[in-house]
Amino acid sequence: MRSLSTGWVEVPFSARFHFARSGRNPDGMPVERLRMVQRWAALTMSSRTPAGGSGGERPLVHRTFAHRPVMVEEVVDLLAATPPGTVLDATVGGGGHARALLAAAPHLGVVGLDRDADAVAAARAALEEYGPRARVEQARFDDLAGVLAGLGVAALSGALFDLGVSSPQLDRPERGFSYRAEGPLDMRMDRRQPVSASDVVNGWAEADLARLFAEHGEPRFARRVARAVVAGRPLRTTSEFAAVVRDAIPAAARRTGGHPARRVFQAVRIAVNEELAVLPTALDDALDLLSPGGRCVVLSYHSGEDRIVKDRFRHAATGGCTCPPGLPCVCGATPTVRLLTRRARRPSPAEVAANRRSESARLRSVERLPAEPPDASGSPAARRRP
Ligand SMILES: C[S@@+](CC[C@H](N)C(=O)[O-])C[C@H]1O[C@@H](n2cnc3c(N)ncnc32)[C@H](O)[C@@H]1O
Repeated sequence: MRSLSTGWVEVPFSARFHFARSGRNPDGMPVERLRMVQRWAALTMSSRTPAGGSGGERPLVHRTFAHRPVMVEEVVDLLAATPPGTVLDATVGGGGHARALLAAAPHLGVVGLDRDADAVAAARAALEEYGPRARVEQARFDDLAGVLAGLGVAALSGALFDLGVSSPQLDRPERGFSYRAEGPLDMRMDRRQPVSASDVVNGWAEADLARLFAEHGEPRFARRVARAVVAGRPLRTTSEFAAVVRDAIPAAARRTGGHPARRVFQAVRIAVNEELAVLPTALDDALDLLSPGGRCVVLSYHSGEDRIVKDRFRHAATGGCTCPPGLPCVCGATPTVRLLTRRARRPSPAEVAANRRSESARLRSVERLPAEPPDASGSPAARRRP
């Protein structure tokens, strides 16, 4: 917690650092190093009690949900610079980002959502020590407006979307996400939903599969793969599906670009969980709920997601303006946010070396503008497009 008298921050791993971004702490340790200590502690999801106590093992689920939060320092820096209030972590996973934010920003609370019951249990355990500053609910992020209203949260200081899958989802064969391990054709993030990967792989028409693989998976060989999948039915396991995909791709093309099933599995996962369909509404709803100065940060992991994020952020930053570029806006559009990142930020080479799963990450963020007073005519003043 930040000490009101000294301005020092006690983080729950017995590391202390000052809110300044440089300099040294009283023990002589450079602040940057203390930040790294704190980050490391958050990343390893220590099972120690707060302040380094000896007893108090965390519940098993917390220690076994091993997901390293991506670009955690950048995310925390962006969200900690927001007004006091609530940050929505729309994809709380194991709570890694949320935990680092709560440690670094005592003026913020977090509402975490995840559609996966295992993630919800892990995040609740990981954030338990923050008491009422952290709430975690099982929900899809396109229901965020309803969930927040139910919790009495009318406005947000920030919103974080760390899209895609968590490491435990990929690493647990029984979840059926991985082409590397034998498992059921499942891939449901929320196991209460009726449609699984088996329904897509064994039930979709060949033309629909080909379109899915072309859009989100293996564009060059989409039709060949779809034909092979239909011919190989019924496919019962991830290994059977992966073998059919591999055999459908010419040997010469298999020598580059990693396992040929990787992108096809990704396409099926996107379809099973309707990942892209629910994203635009959820982003728009989150932006609508931001208070002035509030920020939305999104980490995406493939181009389809990133295109949607870029589009919704640009729409909010221009107010949907239809005027020719470079000319004053006369169409009455009202921007609601400003872009904090014109180009997507990428993880550092050091992070990619330490965590290969961060490699494809792209971070974009926006900040909510103050409400603009209407001009004399009652409409927002004409302005240049951002
Ligand atoms: C990359 S992980 C998030 C990891 C998290 N930031 C952390 O630090 O542990 C993505 C999470 O988002 C969840 N998820 C994906 N789509 C979702 C949706 N539409 N609604 C809610 N949760 C979703 C997944 O179940 C997964 O746990």
